[in-house]
Amino acid sequence: MDELKLIGPIRQLVTMEALPLKGPLSDSQLQIVEQAGILISNGKILAIGVFERLKTDYSKAELYELKGDHVCLPGFIDAHTHICFGGSRANDYALRNSGKTYLEIAKSGGGIWDTVTETRKAEKEELIKKTTKLANRHLETGVTTLEVKSGYGLSVEEEIKMLEAIKQANDTIPSDLIATCLAAHMFPKDYKGTKKEYLEELVVKLLPMIKEKGLAHRIDAFIEESAFSPIEIAPYFETAKKMGFDITVHADQFTPGGSQVAVDFGAISADHLEASTEKEIQLLAQSDTIATALPGASLGLGCNFTPARKLLDAGATLAIASDHNPGSAPMGDLLTQAAILGAFEKLSNAEVLAGITIRAAAALGLKDRGKLAKGLLADFSLFHTDNYQEILYNQGNLKPCMVWKAGSLVFN
Ligand code: NIG
Ligand code: FE
Repeated sequence: MDELKLIGPIRQLVTMEALPLKGPLSDSQLQIVEQAGILISNGKILAIGVFERLKTDYSKAELYELKGDHVCLPGFIDAHTHICFGGSRANDYALRNSGKTYLEIAKSGGGIWDTVTETRKAEKEELIKKTTKLANRHLETGVTTLEVKSGYGLSVEEEIKMLEAIKQANDTIPSDLIATCLAAHMFPKDYKGTKKEYLEELVVKLLPMIKEKGLAHRIDAFIEESAFSPIEIAPYFETAKKMGFDITVHADQFTPGGSQVAVDFGAISADHLEASTEKEIQLLAQSDTIATALPGASLGLGCNFTPARKLLDAGATLAIASDHNPGSAPMGDLLTQAAILGAFEKLSNAEVLAGITIRAAAALGLKDRGKLAKGLLADFSLFHTDNYQEILYNQGNLKPCMVWKAGSLVFN
């Protein structure tokens, strides 16, 4: 028999099981096990039930007895980040707060291009270090799986450097990093050719190399006036799809249009959506494309939130991610941001928690996590409280006291 571990008693364990993927959720739909125990074998959940009962049934299990009241939630999943980068954009932030807009800064040579310059200057080792540091910071707030985008390399060689850094960071840290290629983040200013030629080069050189080296299975593009139009991106997405990549889109951040591209290409998610109108909301609700809100970008740019309430009421699947990046979303605290989005958009606890667990897992195409059930990864956090509602009520200020990843205690 594999080594067994039993953790408990847990005052409330919120399973996030049996929730529909789409549409509104009420807190009464949450399955909560009282005085629970989690039985772990080989990094996976073998059973969830009443602690005393599990203790009797599995008397040989190694016991992790908890003192005091705890609430257990599945490990959080941050389905959209850019935590692999060089430099800092503290000056952009200061400029924005003195009146310049994100797009004005981009046009005058700063913005994403500034981070591209700094990321290119950085050795791969430096990027590994920085990604590791930030992923570990997320881990302490309960995030056990993070998506990480490239997109600050913007050449075949530099994009590969970033994706390799993400892969190597993943190999040494407890959390799982899911890499996404964002070589179509913006048109690189130093490229000797047209936008069309740049995207063709990505198709001919970069995508096959990513496949061959097993660096990513997801492709992203920024659809916006300052980056790529729906028409420009179409051939790139078509080929990427044929090659078997999942598509995800930076959509409707400043102007609507990207979510139409996402739905047309059967993207797994359309992210941002701050500028989505009724038309895009309906479009997403009637599709299988997951709508990912990025409240960290609204907070970083001081602009409106994604219409999360409207998206849910229309029947969309809502995931919530941090967008942690040096430009638009420097904070990088998923729980805080999700709680704030909930307060502004009037979301139930169930809707916010699903957005950072089970619905975020769907945005990454992951079926082995996001809820606590037999056979799934033993990824979970414990919070020192007797009531799960306290977690969002504290708006991110109640941090986990313990984080477990694949059955191992990785933070306490
Ligand atoms: O998701 N919108 C485009 N990309 C990122 C920002 C990247 C940056 O400003 O460095 C985002 O907000
Ligand atoms: Fe982003």
